[in-house]
Amino acid sequence: MPVALCRPGLLLSFITVCSCLDPDCVLGTVGRPVSLPCLYPNISTSVNVSIEWRRGEEVVLRSDWGEDGQWDRRSSDSAAISADAALTGNLSLLLPSVDPKEDNTYFSLFIVSEGKQSAAVCTVCLTTAASFSPPLLEREEAEQGEEITFRCHSTGGFPEPAVYWLINDTEKPPEGSVRTWTTALPDSNLYNITSHLTVNISKDSRVSCMIENQSMNQNLTSTSYGVERGPLNQRASEAMWIFSTALCVVVGIMVIVGVVYQIHLDRISKRKKKTYRQHQQGRDRHHQNREETEVMKPASKETDV
Ligand SMILES: *[C@@H]1O[C@H](CO)[C@@H](O)[C@H](O)[C@H]1NC(C)=O
Ligand SMILES: *[C@@H]1O[C@H](CO)[C@@H](O)[C@H](O)[C@H]1NC(C)=O
Ligand SMILES: *[C@@H]1O[C@H](CO)[C@@H](O)[C@H](O)[C@H]1NC(C)=O
Ligand SMILES: *[C@@H]1O[C@H](CO)[C@@H](O)[C@H](O)[C@H]1NC(C)=O
Repeated sequence: MPVALCRPGLLLSFITVCSCLDPDCVLGTVGRPVSLPCLYPNISTSVNVSIEWRRGEEVVLRSDWGEDGQWDRRSSDSAAISADAALTGNLSLLLPSVDPKEDNTYFSLFIVSEGKQSAAVCTVCLTTAASFSPPLLEREEAEQGEEITFRCHSTGGFPEPAVYWLINDTEKPPEGSVRTWTTALPDSNLYNITSHLTVNISKDSRVSCMIENQSMNQNLTSTSYGVERGPLNQRASEAMWIFSTALCVVVGIMVIVGVVYQIHLDRISKRKKKTYRQHQQGRDRHHQNREETEVMKPASKETDV
């Protein structure tokens, strides 16, 4: 009931659900074991005492502790408490497998001493939940016109989920465009959910279907992209486009730089050649002069000798 009151709103509701549920509720996952906590340390000082775990009025487990310290246990549904419960005072009830039918069930522990039953020592409520399968989203275009139907299907979860549709990640679908069916699977009490969205939108619109299981704090989303271009293709082609443009620009710049550099080099080499030639001519002249002087030198040396 409190969950129903807290349904509207997305983010806020989770906080509200947590605060409006019984603080002693334990969430059990369907098909998995769960421990319903109860600590009662005083039990170790009592003798001739029995404990009873009850689900509503039904006794799920009974243990008698006699003077010899022997526990005599009887239980249904393979419910159990730890073997040293009397010593540790940890009387937590272990259920081997949670059933969705046990959702919102109260379990209470009573102590029976000298034929008298105490008030409930512990009361724990059990809520149950199971994960839904990732939603399967299909699109079907009408033979004529712009109308597209999206079908979203998910199965095997608990409790009944909420379904949300989003167009282009943010827009809510127009009123009256969504139809949702929820069916309980007869053998397991788990839910199948199918939701249809029929809208007039352009084909490249993105449509998402979200299955929300508040109890498990689970949100499963499936998105359908436009028919022509898948998300990966689109991204890949975008990437290719960016890459090829970048490559063209880089190659273009390199070519321009190369040409400019070549022109520059040509100019330098021309200038160099010119100056080299001038220099060479100068050097030639100088060389000739030196040769002349050198030719003259030995003569002077010889004259010294
Ligand atoms: C416990 O029960 C036994 C018989 O069932 C009785 O003999 C014994 O006196 C009882 N002990 C106490 C402390 O009541
Ligand atoms: C009590 O026992 C259960 C298992 O039976 C265990 O999961 C839990 O942690 C125990 N609690 C404490 C406080 O020891
Ligand atoms: C639930 O969904 C499963 C898988 O899609 C399907 O095989 C089954 O018939 C559905 N059950 C009901 C009751 O709708
Ligand atoms: C969604 O986005 C696509 C482009 O990203 C646009 O063509 C289309 O019209 C949009 N659809 C709606 C319903 O706004």
